[in-house]
Amino acid sequence: MRAVARRLSGVTIEHLPWQRVFDLYDVPETTFFCDPPYADGDQSIYDHAFAEVDHRALRERLRAVKGGWIATYGDHPLIRDLYADCRIEEVRRVRAINQAARREYVELIITP
Ligand SMILES: C[S@@+](CC[C@H](N)C(=O)[O-])C[C@H]1O[C@@H](n2cnc3c(N)ncnc32)[C@H](O)[C@@H]1O
Repeated sequence: MRAVARRLSGVTIEHLPWQRVFDLYDVPETTFFCDPPYADGDQSIYDHAFAEVDHRALRERLRAVKGGWIATYGDHPLIRDLYADCRIEEVRRVRAINQAARREYVELIITP
């Protein structure tokens, strides 16, 4: 417990809609790490659906941030299209939530 307490000392954990997090923390010193629901994923695993309109809204918000940002996404044509003007690095990995199937998939690491 002591190690966890030490690690979390000075850390703030928020539970807010993503737009609110940007409103609260967008200053030039901030780097946002965004790991939104994937565009092709099973939306039923989330409390709230994240639809195409939400992916588009996040993309527009990222265009305007004062700080930096990194986004990770499963590979999907919509995401490739939305972030076509960004740097996109592909990483292949085994899907962690279904190790039994050992299905490899491509994760995109996107930066401005
Ligand atoms: C791909 S998961 C990220 C998992 C996280 N990075 C982790 O490693 O545990 C997407 C996350 O986005 C959250 N989410 C969905 N809709 C959201 C919204 N409107 N605002 C903020 N977070 C949202 C989901 O609850 C889920 O935790």
